[in-house]
Amino acid sequence: MYDFRPDESLPPAELHRQLHAAADALTAGEPDAVANMANVAALLWEFLPDLNWAGFYRVARAKGESEGEELVLGPFVGRPACIRIPFGQGVCGAAARSGETQRVEDVHAFPGHIACDAASRSELVVPVLRDGRVIAVIDLDSPSPARFTRDDAAGIEALAALLAARI
Ligand code: SME
Repeated sequence: MYDFRPDESLPPAELHRQLHAAADALTAGEPDAVANMANVAALLWEFLPDLNWAGFYRVARAKGESEGEELVLGPFVGRPACIRIPFGQGVCGAAARSGETQRVEDVHAFPGHIACDAASRSELVVPVLRDGRVIAVIDLDSPSPARFTRDDAAGIEALAALLAARI
């Protein structure tokens, strides 16, 4: 049994430090990408307060006749979500196309935002880069407007760097 039980009253920087350490410990030496993404989705949910969705979209071959690549739903915690997102669409697609973190204070004001859960008000999407290419994104949604700070973005970017060779 893994029992991390973070104290949510800790300062955000300390929560991110503990989240990073827990993700490192749980994924070290485990080559299965799905297992690692599943455990990290659970850790994000446990460590970061005020979320309604936390998980991964992976870059994969587009389905059927479509050419190229798109995002495909990976392990997550939260309500069932859209399965495939073309590059450039929504907040996740913007992160995948640009390779840059998207920190959205009000999702209703983001052109093309994809509403998977009507409760979502703010969102943080961080690309996972391997050898300069986006291989996945980490997506966090909150029911509170402007939930995610620059420090949250930096913490999740560090987590993405840790996971780049493990997912
Ligand atoms: N809102 C995202 C879609 C994924 S869900 O939030 C889980 C977007 O606009 O890309």
